[in-house]
Amino acid sequence: AHLVAKRVRQRANWSRAVAILQEFKDGCATPLHRLRQVVDALVVEMHAGLALEGGSKLKMILSYVDNLPTGEECGLYYALDLGGTNFRVLRVQLAGREGRILQQEYEEVSIPEALMVGSNEELFDFIAAELASFVASEGEGFHPLPGRQRELGFTFSFPVKQTSIDSGTLLKWTKGFAISETVGKDVVEELQAAMARQNLDMRVSALVNDTVGTLAGGRYWNEDVMVAVILGTGSNACYVERADAIPKWRGVLPKSGSMVINMEWGNFWSSHLPRTPVDDALDAESLNPGDQGFEKLISGMYLGDIVRRVLLKMAQEAALFGDVIPSNLLIPFILRTPDISAMHADESADLKEVTRVLKVVFKTQASLRSRKMIVDVCDTVAERAACLVAAGIVGILKKIGRDTVGNVDMARLKSILAGKGRKTVVAMDGGLYEHYPKFREYLHNTAVELLGKEVAEQVVVELSKDGSGIGAALLAASHSQYLSD
Ligand code: GLC
Repeated sequence: AHLVAKRVRQRANWSRAVAILQEFKDGCATPLHRLRQVVDALVVEMHAGLALEGGSKLKMILSYVDNLPTGEECGLYYALDLGGTNFRVLRVQLAGREGRILQQEYEEVSIPEALMVGSNEELFDFIAAELASFVASEGEGFHPLPGRQRELGFTFSFPVKQTSIDSGTLLKWTKGFAISETVGKDVVEELQAAMARQNLDMRVSALVNDTVGTLAGGRYWNEDVMVAVILGTGSNACYVERADAIPKWRGVLPKSGSMVINMEWGNFWSSHLPRTPVDDALDAESLNPGDQGFEKLISGMYLGDIVRRVLLKMAQEAALFGDVIPSNLLIPFILRTPDISAMHADESADLKEVTRVLKVVFKTQASLRSRKMIVDVCDTVAERAACLVAAGIVGILKKIGRDTVGNVDMARLKSILAGKGRKTVVAMDGGLYEHYPKFREYLHNTAVELLGKEVAEQVVVELSKDGSGIGAALLAASHSQYLSD
């Protein structure tokens, strides 16, 4: 009788687990018609955000970058890239069109977690100190010009209201950062002051978002780069917009006739986005509830935790891991996106990799059919994310008229006739794209479905690894204080 009861219980648990999975899948579904609604909603919000300040949850921030690198840039420039769990400093010796990048060096440091939620001064002192010691190690092959201040491009990957190319105030923190004092401050002034405390004589010549840095870094090599997307800890995109399509822009129209717009698409919101109660709970318990709704569905910081939350529900309601709930399953963010990528990629018959991750991360195990179910959860989360990113990219292409074959502006038409630049290139950076093959596959396939094969052939997604740092250095060069000399 005991055994029979046990079997009955197991069967009930299993059907409960199946039901939880199905309900979650239904909530995450991204059929094409729904994705098209997302594309259109994004385009509407882009227009609204460009029309006036505060016109949309999509901030559509002016970057003040109206000239992208041409290849002519010369000299020694530094960059500092702050935005995720690591930050990096780099220097590059540029030699113009022929020589390009003569030499470059970088260092990467991980940011102690305490600093991400500590005080403003501590954070800036930490990065300025790292920068100062990096500058002190400048060796052969790098040639600062005598009598000139060294110049720096500052990649700061958070929503900043730019007031010029070299100033801007922090609107809010995102990702794992939360230092309330910094909000509303000019981050260039903060960095400049911290550098002074280190006796570092250097000028911040360009303040850029990582998307903008990536766009600039991509442009340096390829003039067809029009869009940049970051798929890492956070997610965001920027693109080149016509200046006359930016009603909220009050300044003089730039000579180039265009400006790079940092969309801050992480904060995009639409009722068409497929969401589930799991997403609501994740949001409510996050550092920034109510913010970054799109980012919380698509970026590397969150995907693992969405999976963890679904597994927790299955453990609690369907004893997925047996009668005791593994205590690690209760720890937020313990399951990271690389873990779900590894489980998702597991092609062994007995799902060895899943067994390994369960053991290492949750100190638990599960039956083969449960492990298959876990892979299915990973697949659901990754597919939804990748399809939404594809919709986001297609939305941008649509906004700039690159989503059809016929619809090209005059300049474009000319360059097409001249036999060059038929493509629209999307510069892409971030670990989620780089290290998650199944995610990439979903992203590409969905983009092709949304665009149609013929158009999709003209769109190239190019991995631009760590382009944002170099891009910032290039923008420091093109906005150097010595340019008029
Ligand atoms: C977050 C930031 C955004 C950044 C993105 C990628 O969304 O708000 O500025 O570009 O992460 O790092």
